Amino acid sequence: MVSGKARVAGVMGWPVSHSRSPRLHGFWLRHYGIDGAYVPLPVRPEDFTAAVRALPKLGFAGANITVPHKEAALAACDEATPLARRVGAVNTLVCRPDGSLFGDNTDGFGFLENLRAGCPGWRADAGPAVVLGAGGAARAIVAALLDAGCPQVRLTNRTRERAADLAADLGGAIEVVAWEERSAALAGAGLLVNTTTLGMTGAPPLDIALDPLPAAALVTDIVYAPLMTDLLLRAQARGHAVVDGLGMLLHQGRPGFEYWFGIRPEVTAELRAVVLGDAPA
Ligand code: ATR
Repeated sequence: MVSGKARVAGVMGWPVSHSRSPRLHGFWLRHYGIDGAYVPLPVRPEDFTAAVRALPKLGFAGANITVPHKEAALAACDEATPLARRVGAVNTLVCRPDGSLFGDNTDGFGFLENLRAGCPGWRADAGPAVVLGAGGAARAIVAALLDAGCPQVRLTNRTRERAADLAADLGGAIEVVAWEERSAALAGAGLLVNTTTLGMTGAPPLDIALDPLPAAALVTDIVYAPLMTDLLLRAQARGHAVVDGLGMLLHQGRPGFEYWFGIRPEVTAELRAVVLGDAPA
């Protein structure tokens, strides 16, 4: 039920019609019986700053920000967390009572919470992590891994310069590895993360030999369509623990929901099914 007093949030992106966030937050709003709404906000890049500045004036509690606006959202914020500034992107905006915009980045939190939930024995400090890709998602993930105590991130990207820029921006124990050396970089690693789009439905496959990866290493993919990517299937066949990427999406939404609606929501099997579309929304 949405009354005249409902709190309203949404997801701003372009395009936004593919976003699963309205399903995610819609489930939680119903589940917790909250008088609120969460709506898609399709906003073209040229309109972003005006649209985001209008959110407080429209009475919004806040919004998620998705592709291609995450960097522009940081610039539009009156205040942002040190983490969001370090990562260079905001995915969660809060409209404060004085009309100002506060920005956070919860992608790294979502990534770590997903690993902790999917593989409770995993520890960030257990060994080096190999991260494939150097886009926006990789930035948040590498920062989260280093902050969680990961001793070394081996970062490899098709365009090496992007990986070098990421390493220079974040600082810390990041070793940039040539894309051609991605398989060799797996030796001695405790975690392998794919943050590239390779392996996604419609994208080329991810070509990487897993042989050097220690048996105890955890393998995860931020691609969740398909849910079990070829990388995860191959890792599972070798006996590795694997965690799919859907949980990162679900967990990154939790802090925003709490900011806007006052309850820290839970990730459950029922929620996963609803967001995947297997169960009625
Ligand atoms: P996001 O910001 O959401 O992470 P992105 O910036 O488009 O998305 O990043 C996509 C990642 O997939 C990048 O690391 C990209 O590599 P480049 O930086 O070289 O573009 C990687 N990627 C996409 N297609 C690829 C391909 N065919 N081979 C190797 N890497 C690819």
